[in-house]
Amino acid sequence: MWPRTDLLKLLKVEHPIVQAPMAGTATVALAAAVSNAGALGSLGCAEDPLVTIRQNVDALRLATDKPFNLNFFAHRPPREDRAVVARTRDLIKPFYEQAGLTKVPDALEAPFGTFDPDSLSLLLALRPAVTSFHFGLPETAAVKDLQKAGCIVLCSATTVAEAKALNEAGVDAIIAQGWEAGGHRGSVDSHYEDFGIGTMALVPQIVDTVDVPVIAAGGIADGRGIAAAFALGASGVQMGTAFLSCPETSISDVHRAALRNAVDQDTRLTRAFSGRPARARNSRYIEAMAEHRAPLPDFPTMYTLSGPLLDAADQDRDFHFLLHGQAAALNRELPAAELVRTLVKETLDLL
Ligand SMILES: Cc1cc2nc3c(=O)[nH]c(=O)nc-3n(C[C@H](O)[C@H](O)[C@H](O)COP(=O)(O)O)c2cc1C
Repeated sequence: MWPRTDLLKLLKVEHPIVQAPMAGTATVALAAAVSNAGALGSLGCAEDPLVTIRQNVDALRLATDKPFNLNFFAHRPPREDRAVVARTRDLIKPFYEQAGLTKVPDALEAPFGTFDPDSLSLLLALRPAVTSFHFGLPETAAVKDLQKAGCIVLCSATTVAEAKALNEAGVDAIIAQGWEAGGHRGSVDSHYEDFGIGTMALVPQIVDTVDVPVIAAGGIADGRGIAAAFALGASGVQMGTAFLSCPETSISDVHRAALRNAVDQDTRLTRAFSGRPARARNSRYIEAMAEHRAPLPDFPTMYTLSGPLLDAADQDRDFHFLLHGQAAALNRELPAAELVRTLVKETLDLL
């Protein structure tokens, strides 16, 4: 049926489609529907306290007995550079004034931490079938512990060099995330904006470099994209934006409407909310901040400065942070299980 089945065997799923783990957006209901439909449902756990992750996994296990994926960020802990903070506070001040806010916060705080020994202990206790990482991998010993506990370990790469390093570190499969992708770039290094490599160029070069299955991600929205990924040598796909329009996601009505009206030129890469590049719907704030190529506070402490603007976004759309990718205009508003069935049929018909 599928031209390549290595990933299906590895993940123990029927269809080679991974629903992207979208922190704050991919709900238990979404992941359960996707896993029950024979693809791989995922929860983005990176921004959740451990107790919430445990509760979500309990709920997910009640809703499905199929494999699912828990995703974490393994970013370098943020450093504090007072000069960068001072410059960014000045830069952001006019936007605070526009939003009617008075004081730009002084001290920066990370709203969530990076993957750490406590996250590892929780994962080892929960033993999900699959664990995936974004922004690099935790240390090799942690990867090995997870694999010994029976977890398949995946990680995103945005360049051939990153994929090669992940292969050498022993991951079970690599997510090749192209420039088109919605959400944060999964790159290990955050200074690579000038090298945006599209999915079409990235996937076959990673396939030629590594000896584990490659999962293509970025701009894949329908059966045409999935068939193309297989033609490029991928063993499966990871799709985020396409699942955003499912009724099971927790996106706002404003985001749902934006997806309905999306066009190809809607999005751009921005570091202006989190400190790391993410593809989001363009706005005046994003555009104005893009003019300034100076460093911003490290991910995720930049959220301390952008947070009050995000809170003001209900009144002022200039401050929305609506994460989606370049192919959003192809989205369909289908329940997740139906979307999976549709994607599988479209792809197999084409293949
Ligand atoms: C709203 C949104 C949130 C995302 N959050 C995460 C996340 O928490 N962890 C992660 O590994 N990837 C995350 N991503 C990136 C996806 O894993 C994937 O690379 C991307 O969605 C693929 O491109 P596409 O959006 O064009 O399908 C997110 C993507 C979106 C659209």
